Amino acid sequence: MKPLGPALAGLLSLAAMTGAWADEAGLRLGHAIFTGALDSLSAAERAALPARQLGRFPCAGCHGRDGAGGTEGEAPPIRWPALAAPSVLRTRYDGPGFHAAVTTGRDPEGRTLTRLMPRYALDPAATAALRGYLAALPALDRRGVTPTALEFCVVIRPEAAAPLRAYAARLATALTDLAGDAGLYGRHPKVIPLEGPPDQVLAAAEDRCLAVIGLVPDNRLPISAFSDLGVPVLFPLAQLSGREDRTIVRALRPTRRDVFAALVRDLGAQGVTSVHIVGDDGDAGDLLQMLRLDPATTHAEATHGADVALPDDVALVALGPLSAETLMSLKPGRRLWVLSQSAMAEMLPAGVDATVMIDAPGLVSFALGAGLDPQEAHATLTAEVLVAALKGAGREVGRAGLLRGFGDAVLGHVGLDYDDVPLTGTKDVLPLRPGAGE
Ligand code: HEC
Repeated sequence: MKPLGPALAGLLSLAAMTGAWADEAGLRLGHAIFTGALDSLSAAERAALPARQLGRFPCAGCHGRDGAGGTEGEAPPIRWPALAAPSVLRTRYDGPGFHAAVTTGRDPEGRTLTRLMPRYALDPAATAALRGYLAALPALDRRGVTPTALEFCVVIRPEAAAPLRAYAARLATALTDLAGDAGLYGRHPKVIPLEGPPDQVLAAAEDRCLAVIGLVPDNRLPISAFSDLGVPVLFPLAQLSGREDRTIVRALRPTRRDVFAALVRDLGAQGVTSVHIVGDDGDAGDLLQMLRLDPATTHAEATHGADVALPDDVALVALGPLSAETLMSLKPGRRLWVLSQSAMAEMLPAGVDATVMIDAPGLVSFALGAGLDPQEAHATLTAEVLVAALKGAGREVGRAGLLRGFGDAVLGHVGLDYDDVPLTGTKDVLPLRPGAGE
């Protein structure tokens, strides 16, 4: 069981004034049911819930993370203030009316809700907890938003404190410049550095950050640790795998999976049918699977170290840096694909027929054109995208509204379009053949 963040705990007093049902356990249970993130519950609590159904069809999936209503499927707003007021279709909900709607699909007028709205086997205690959470939701969604400020957080990891502080400072300057003296609807973006043990960082992020920006995720603070708490994770500094939750995570570069898809396409276009992958188990396994599903590939295998005694018609794909020894042993004419971030392009022996997969070429040319190092370029573009999303979100911005605002973040000059590609804004990967041509 995870402890509640201070803000959630602080809201209890507020919720207690508006309805006597809310308590800490209730809010936690309500949050879990609403988002389908049941991991935070004890085994006994989980056993009492329709876990599979909630995992596949959490309320937030249709009604929005902020309960303000979905754009697809016409799911109406279900924040408690909306349900507790009459609508054109029905009178106001009370506790038993809400329980009936969620469990049997009947509204207070006795109207049967469409089948788009699932029926859940929840007991009255669970629907009461959900109701308490729906009552607290508007305030919960606006954490990090004050009358005068929008508070974003950068997690300062001790091993990389100096560069991360520099990143936070750069981001703050860029945001201030773009927001101008008037701010965004009167609010000024602020960047708050978060330091300390992981549990304190998480609690602080949940409590006071509109979003966490520029995260360097690791096992103790993975992206999901924040997103499970409902904190948006924007523009992590590490590449995404492609498995992240696209309702709450945004990045600037194509995912690992996008790079692999481009790699498979390029291998096919270059007439390669036989591939040998050198790399880490997890990544190599993913690529292997994609190649085996690709009809153009007749043979694919993977090893940790390079086995260079390969037949000449086998192309080599290196997912990480190759050893000097391996590099030296590559024969002229050997076809080799490397990823841009493995930074090996300059070390390749002459004569090797190499392709470098450059992810997000638009960002690379932006950084080169503006004379910025990669981290400066990242902070600068992050600020641009963020301000576009904040403008899209409007005056009533909260966490969910900010994420919806990304639909308006289209930056043609660097090839980013979050309306088209919500998770990363781009899937662009350019195969570059340094040795080819002239
Ligand atoms: C797959 C999409 C989907 C999911 C998941 C979903 N809903 Fe709904 N819900 C809808 C739709 C669509 C409607 C509108 C139905 C209608 O008006 O006939 C609706 C209607 C409702 C209503 C009636 C609102 C009103 O104004 O009368 C309530 C209450 C509600 N949902 C609560 C929930 C709760 C609580 C959960 C999670 C336990 C949930 N819904 C999950 C799609 C969904």
